[in-house]
Amino acid sequence: MAQKWSKGTWVGWSVMVFLATGIAIYALQFLSVGIENALPQMAYHVPERLLPASVHFAIGGLVLLIGPFQFVPGLRAKWPVLHRWMGRIYVTGCIFSGIAAFILASNTNAGLVARTGFSLLAIAWVYATTMAFLRARNRNFNEHKQWMIRSYALTLAAVTLRIYLPVSMIGFGLPYATVYPVISFACWVPNAIAAEWYLRYRKANRA
Ligand code: HEM
Repeated sequence: MAQKWSKGTWVGWSVMVFLATGIAIYALQFLSVGIENALPQMAYHVPERLLPASVHFAIGGLVLLIGPFQFVPGLRAKWPVLHRWMGRIYVTGCIFSGIAAFILASNTNAGLVARTGFSLLAIAWVYATTMAFLRARNRNFNEHKQWMIRSYALTLAAVTLRIYLPVSMIGFGLPYATVYPVISFACWVPNAIAAEWYLRYRKANRA
């Protein structure tokens, strides 16, 4: 019997799907018009890092899209084989997109702080996703779910970054060079903390 979600959980999930889909479309546009036109601020990666940039944007967009559906209890219970295949695609995608992200992060023109923030995010992303995969392989589904919540909270850095950036620049009038390094940490550290908080809250309310 699949666990039932409350109305609030469905609303939160729908907001997450809406935001993730918007950012995934933004990322995937380059497949039709090229990185220079779709993401001109990333054009400097093209001459030397076309492959990692393409892998990062395309597969990042894909994992952002499929991730939320893995959490829906009804889908998992009804189509377990689909859940497993989408899970394999998600895990492989995060590892490839994460390695590509690490290469982009190491070469960002945004300075040492941004390099550090994004590199740590890439490492944490690959680590959390690998742990989730290993736990599923060992049939420890409780910990598998916990690591997947951590992994997707980090995947959502793609969304939070693109919320914080316009809010800081347009809303607060701050310059890109100032906010971008800060956001390289701010886009994921609070997400990781929120995931830990949620996992503790769930545990406490079950006990
Ligand atoms: C969670 C781990 C992730 C890390 C570590 C990461 C890292 C990076 C880095 C280092 C850059 C280049 C920044 C620069 O050169 O200044 C970048 C750009 C980008 N990433 Fe990611 N990323 C992550 C997740 C994602 C996901 C899931 C998506 C899917 C939509 C995504 C889409 C993009 C896009 C579209 C850009 C181009 C920059 C822009 O237009 O805002 N990233 N990312």
